[in-house]
This record gives sequence, C-alpha cells and structure tokens, in this order.
Amino acid sequence: MEQTANRIGIYVFSGTGNTLKCAKALETALTEQGAAVRLHEIADGSETAAERDLVLCYPVYGFNMPRILKTFCRNLATGGNVWFLKTSGEPLHLNDNSSAQMIRILKKKGYRIKGEFHYIMPYNMVFRHTDETASLMWKTAEERIPEAAQMIAEGVETPIRSPFSAKAISALCRIEHWFYPKNGRLFRVDQIKCVRCMKCVNSCPTKNISFEDGKFRFGKNCIGCVRCSFRCPTEAIRIGLIDFMRVNGPYDFTRDPKGASIGRYCKKAYRRYFSEKI
Ligand SMILES: Cc1cc2nc3c(=O)[nH]c(=O)nc-3n(C[C@H](O)[C@H](O)[C@H](O)COP(=O)(O)O)c2cc1C
Repeated sequence: MEQTANRIGIYVFSGTGNTLKCAKALETALTEQGAAVRLHEIADGSETAAERDLVLCYPVYGFNMPRILKTFCRNLATGGNVWFLKTSGEPLHLNDNSSAQMIRILKKKGYRIKGEFHYIMPYNMVFRHTDETASLMWKTAEERIPEAAQMIAEGVETPIRSPFSAKAISALCRIEHWFYPKNGRLFRVDQIKCVRCMKCVNSCPTKNISFEDGKFRFGKNCIGCVRCSFRCPTEAIRIGLIDFMRVNGPYDFTRDPKGASIGRYCKKAYRRYFSEKI
C-alpha cells in the first residue's frame, strides 16, 4: 500500500479497444516522463484503487460515461487526484459533460478533479469510419497523449467546462443506463452464421452472455459496450433495437492517414479537432 501510494493508477474500461489503446500510450508516455505508473483494466467496477493519483479512462456512451465507471467511482475510497481520459467517435462539444456524474461522486469523496483529456477514435456504433480516417484519429491521439502525460506528471490542473447544450443532452441520454440492460435481452445470435468460437461469451465484461444446451442466452446486465458484436468474426450477433447502428470488426490503424476523408457528418467539428494545437 505504501509503495503504490506515490504511483499513478490508470484505470481503464474499454468496450472495443480504442480507449485501451490510448490508455496504454498514456502509460508509456508517463513512464518515459519518469513517473511510476500502473495500468489496470476495469472488469466490473467493483475494483478498488491503491493509488492516490488516478486517471480514469472510458469511452463516451450516449454523451455520458458507461455505467460501469459510475460503479467504479462509488467503490473508491476517499481522497486523491483524478484526471479523465475519454474517447468518442464525434468531436462535438455535446460530449463535454460526459464525466459529470463521476465528478459529483468523486468530489463528495474528497477527490480533486485535475482535468480531462479527450481523444477522437473511430466509431464502434452508428457508422464505420474508413481505416484511413481511423489511422488519422489514432496518429492524432498518439501525438497529443505525451502532452497529457506531462500535465499529469507535473500535476497541472485545468478546469473541465461544459456548455449548457452538453449538460442538457447528457441529462436526457442518461436513460441509456436504463435502456442497455433491457435492450441486451433482445440480442440474438444467427445460428447459421455463428461458428461457436465463444468470443462473445468469453469477452463480455459483465458476463452477460452464456451458452447452454446449444443456445446463447443474454442476461440483464448488458452495458451496451458492443464488444460481442464488434468482435464477432461472422457478424452473427444482432444487437436488439439498435441493430441498425451496428459496426463490426477491428479497424486497421496502420493505413496511410493521408488518404483520410472527413465525410459531411460533423465535418466542421472533425476539422477543428484535427487542426487543434497540441
Ligand atoms: C453504446 C454506445 C454509445 C456511444 N455514444 C457515443 C456518443 O454519445 N458520442 C460519441 O461521440 N461517441 C459515442 N460512441 C462511440 C464510442 O465512444 C467510440 O467509438 C469509442 O472510441 C469506443 O471506445 P472503446 O473501443 O474503448 O469501447 C458510442 C459507442 C457506443 C458503443
């Protein structure tokens, strides 16, 4: 306990790998800065942290954080410093209030909120970015993460501001925390496409998928991370009422980002994000 008190703890929840990729880059950058750091993956939110300085990493879901992060914050002991690292598919300011619920919980516990770092990574929901755009996103994050590491290592504090529109949309979308467990029960497996690789069963963070008597069963603990359908090698999983937004398969982040195209969707916001000063 003594030894870990001066160490920075990076705690990550990642549905499909984007946030984990950024968190690992942060771990490397902090180590290069000479900081003692350890990365932990959040499995179900019941974990506790031994470190006083924490970086909580998560993907934005419906302009909020995944429910599992809220559970994690509730289970933390008191005191310490917290930074957030979040990834999202859109660079819109509507995502700016996503940490609000965690901030409220943590402040009550005496934590000092030091700042937030936001990286745009390819969508795993709604539509698929091209691999070239995914590479541009990753290259941009990779370039910017060392600056975040330096700020964390030096203990720099920056205020987290969110416009009224972000507060309103995140409040409205909190219904998603109620929706995902219900929608998760509507997930189905196409028995013809399924190759029984069990990737979905074995990788579900909430152990919500089981295979019994030759049938897949989906429980009531889905958090909407879409890891199961995203990783399914044969696109056999349908994700209930939001199946029309399903995106399947990993991105190739090694493509030449020069070929990246920004479509018409949120064009201005993407341009602003990519051209922002590091
Ligand atoms: C259920 C769900 C809701 C999402 N909601 C948003 C959102 O409100 N805004 C946004 O920009 N991206 C949203 N996304 C996209 C993810 O935040 C983005 O792809 C993220 O990088 C995924 O990280 P991961 O691979 O670590 O899970 C959503 C993704 C999922 C699965």
